[in-house]
This record gives sequence, structure tokens and C-alpha cells, in this order.
Amino acid sequence: MTKLLLLGGTTEASRLAMAVAEAWGGAGPGAGRQAVFSYAGRTARPASQPLPCRIGGFGGVAGLVAYLRREAITHVVDATHPFAAQMSANAVAACEEAGVKLLGYERPEWIARPGDRWIRVADMAAAVAALPEAGARVFLAIGKQHLSAFSTRPGNHYLLRLVDAPVAPLPLADSCVVVARGPFDAAGDEELMRSHAITHVVAKNAGGSGAQAKLVAARALGLPVVMMDRPRIPSRQVRGSVAEVMSWLDHA
Ligand SMILES: NC(=O)c1ccc[n+]([C@@H]2O[C@H](COP(=O)([O-])OP(=O)(O)OC[C@H]3O[C@@H](n4cnc5c(N)ncnc54)[C@H](OP(=O)(O)O)[C@@H]3O)[C@@H](O)[C@H]2O)c1
Repeated sequence: MTKLLLLGGTTEASRLAMAVAEAWGGAGPGAGRQAVFSYAGRTARPASQPLPCRIGGFGGVAGLVAYLRREAITHVVDATHPFAAQMSANAVAACEEAGVKLLGYERPEWIARPGDRWIRVADMAAAVAALPEAGARVFLAIGKQHLSAFSTRPGNHYLLRLVDAPVAPLPLADSCVVVARGPFDAAGDEELMRSHAITHVVAKNAGGSGAQAKLVAARALGLPVVMMDRPRIPSRQVRGSVAEVMSWLDHA
């Protein structure tokens, strides 16, 4: 029996879920192959999946080990966002402890192209420090979790693009929220940045296609992009495409 836990929350994870559902033919109990898709529960309306879903944290490494044992999971594919470093580190530790096979599905990093004006920074604090003290109009394309870091630069205006409308006041006084869910396209992002008179973009080096449009738009508009490098993730096996992950699942 193969039982896969697919850690998701990304466009790539959803593509992988589709491939698993197709290849395993709606594998039900008794078919020898089962899969469960896991969301952290960060968004109000997560995209529906063609696999059974569970939502919410496991409770750290110990909680994940208990889950893996209780559900008799044999394989974990970590297709979380490259900046979801806590979940990825927990998966490495828990799979080792529980004797479960683990694969990271990592998309390649974005690489600066001719015409790009990237300012590469190591982390969120360095991204804040890379912005002007005041007067900038910043497209803060980093999700909702770390917005408060930018409250130390209150003289700038911030354009936020969030999956859900905020339910609590934002930590940024001078801000404007656009509620939208990717994938995005370059023409739309160029229009968005133009209409908000954006002068700077802040982005995480996520890689992949779903969020790349803002970089193409920034290049076209000649705007600087403060680009955050990926956090470090403990060593693990990785693959970079759906086909390679499917092959690993067949042979691991
Ligand atoms: N960080 C980003 O920029 C970003 C962008 C787009 C999408 N996402 C997605 O949003 C989710 C949360 O990201 P994050 O940066 O908050 O992660 P994180 O900091 O690495 O994870 C924090 C905690 O959230 C829970 N968690 C995260 N992903 C989970 C999953 N797929 N299933 C069940 N529990 C999960 C775990 O809780 P326990 O310790 O209780 O198990 C984890 O320790 C991830 O699934 C990620 O793929 C993140």
C-alpha cells in the first residue's frame, strides 16, 4: 500500500494533485494507492482539489510524526511554497523519525534577465532597509504574514495584493488592498502598477509561473525590484517537475 501526504498551498502542488488523481485513477481504499492533500488553512476559500483534503497545522514535528503513523503514510511530497521553511523543516525531521520517504518538489529560482533592476536581499528586514525612508509607492507582493515589518517605513505608500480581504486593520497606515488570486498575467500586472504609480516592487524569489508576471511588468516599466532570497531548508531529495515527482512515486 502506498499512501501519499501531499503538502500543498501552491499552484505547483495543485498541478501535482491533478496528476496524482489522474494517474491513480481516483484510487480509493483497497486500490493500493491513496493520497491526501494538506493545506495550512491560511486562506478562507482554498482552491478545491481532486484528492481528499485535510486543513490545518499538524502541531509541529511531534504532531506530524503522530499523523504519519496514525494515517499509515508511506510517502510525503512537500510541494509547499519555497518560503514555507518551517513546514519543510518539520517534514524533514518528522519523516526521518517516522521512517517515511520524503521528496521536496522545488521550482527553480527566478533569475534576473537583461533589463531587470533587482536589489537582492537576504530576508524581510533587509527588504525593508532597501526601501527609501519615505515617498516611495511600493507594490508589496509578499502575502499578508510579514506586513508589519514595513511599518518602520511609514512614509511610503503600500499596494498589497491579498487572496482574502483583510478582516483586521492592517499594520500599514498608508496602504491600498487589491483582493486577487493568482496566477497573474504580465499585462494585468503592468496596468496595476501603472495605475497605482508604483515606484518599487518587493518580492520573494518564489520561482514558478504563477507569480512571475509582476517581474515581467516591473522590467517593462523599468522599476526596481527588492528580491528576497529563499530561506535555507534542511537537506532532502528534490525534484523539479510533476513528471519527475510522479516517477519518484512509482519507484521510491
Ligand atoms: N510563505 C509564503 O510566502 C507562501 C506563499 C504562498 C503560499 N504559501 C503556502 O501557505 C502555507 C503556509 O505558509 P507559511 O509560510 O505560513 O508556512 P510555514 O511558516 O513554513 O509553516 C508554519 C506552520 O504552518 C503549518 N503548515 C504550513 N504549511 C502547511 C500545509 N501545507 N499543511 C498543513 N500545515 C501546514 C505548519 O503548522 P504545524 O507546525 O502546526 O504543523 C507549519 O509549521 C503553506 O502551505 C505554503 O505552501 C506560503
